Amino acid sequence: MYKYSFPLMTKMAAAVPDAARAASPAPAARARVAVAGATGYAGQELVRLLARHPAVALTAAMSSGAASAPRPLPGLARIWDGVVTPLDLDRVAGSAEIAFLALPEAAAAEVGAALVDRGVRVIDLSGAFRIRSDGDRHRWYPATTTLPAGVVYALPERHAEAIRGARLASCPGCYPTAALLALEPLAAAGLLDGAVVIDAKSGISGAGKAPSDRTHFCENHGSVAAYAIFSHRHTPEIEQELGMPVTFVPHLVPLDRGILESIYISLPAGAGEARVAETLQRAYASAPFVRLTGGDLPEIKHVAHTNFCDIGWRVDETRRRAVLVVVLDNLLKGAAGQAIQNLNIMLGVDERTGLL
Ligand SMILES: NC(=O)c1ccc[n+]([C@@H]2O[C@H](COP(=O)([O-])OP(=O)(O)OC[C@H]3O[C@@H](n4cnc5c(N)ncnc54)[C@H](OP(=O)(O)O)[C@@H]3O)[C@@H](O)[C@H]2O)c1
Repeated sequence: MYKYSFPLMTKMAAAVPDAARAASPAPAARARVAVAGATGYAGQELVRLLARHPAVALTAAMSSGAASAPRPLPGLARIWDGVVTPLDLDRVAGSAEIAFLALPEAAAAEVGAALVDRGVRVIDLSGAFRIRSDGDRHRWYPATTTLPAGVVYALPERHAEAIRGARLASCPGCYPTAALLALEPLAAAGLLDGAVVIDAKSGISGAGKAPSDRTHFCENHGSVAAYAIFSHRHTPEIEQELGMPVTFVPHLVPLDRGILESIYISLPAGAGEARVAETLQRAYASAPFVRLTGGDLPEIKHVAHTNFCDIGWRVDETRRRAVLVVVLDNLLKGAAGQAIQNLNIMLGVDERTGLL
């Protein structure tokens, strides 16, 4: 039996500190929240989770306005029986203290800045506010001309303290979430020696609900394709947070949801499996949504429809090579679930509220 196998997961789940288990506020203290982009893949997950979240009241759910009449979300009947209305910033500002944006980047750039100006705290799922360097942001997200004050790169396992006071929590992308959760602790411990290669596979919902030539069922069913090699906007995001270059190769696989990344690294002299395991255990000893599986490599089906990110690894000590395998659900830990984890941190309630 491999040394760092599932018992580690059980041990770590039990290690969640009391601070993370703080009681949720009484209904009278519910925070008022709104969702923009509620008819999208990520937005519908937000509405589903927020409708049952004990610390919030969902006051508005909005779409692009392309459909003239307010409409229900049939898949959420009896979970949330409200109607989606066209996006209206006055209504968001008048009815909510916190707004989730699950919009295309250009729309999020405009709406996010406007809501922050009006005193609404924003949790943005798009890439519009993730890149700090003006040059890189201009190249990858040209609609975001400036970053509003109070923007935080909102990876909850790394930046909880800053997220607590953020005016705009900019949630990481789905691919970067998986890559950074595996790599950041190793980078900080000096365990990345040389090239880092991230071989990533994603289900099709990662591209949103509008089908394209690439995401059409007939193009994906029965096939796997690499895309955007050296030209994916998640590369600068991963490099910004990691502080080193990476080779990132995304693939589309015929699944509706889920990401698996196989990450190839070289270890410095003297470092082996024990250092990798200890470093990750220390980093995630109190993280409720990161499960370390060691040599029992995780699979997408273990995390689909959950907010978990599972990380496994194998180390070849003679060649000083290691491969990390990371899985998450792109619509939850990679999008809506992570956004709600950030909401919980902003509200000061148990990080797991509404998610477990
Ligand atoms: N999908 C993922 O796995 C994932 C993961 C992480 C982050 N994200 C990010 O999250 C955001 C949403 O992604 P998604 O996959 O949920 O997208 P999606 O399925 O395409 O949904 C987009 C939503 O935005 C609305 N919308 C479109 N243009 C608009 C405009 N100009 N003004 C107001 N509303 C508009 C749409 O409304 P209509 O229905 O009226 O068109 C829909 O509700 C994107 O920025 C994406 O990059 C997605």
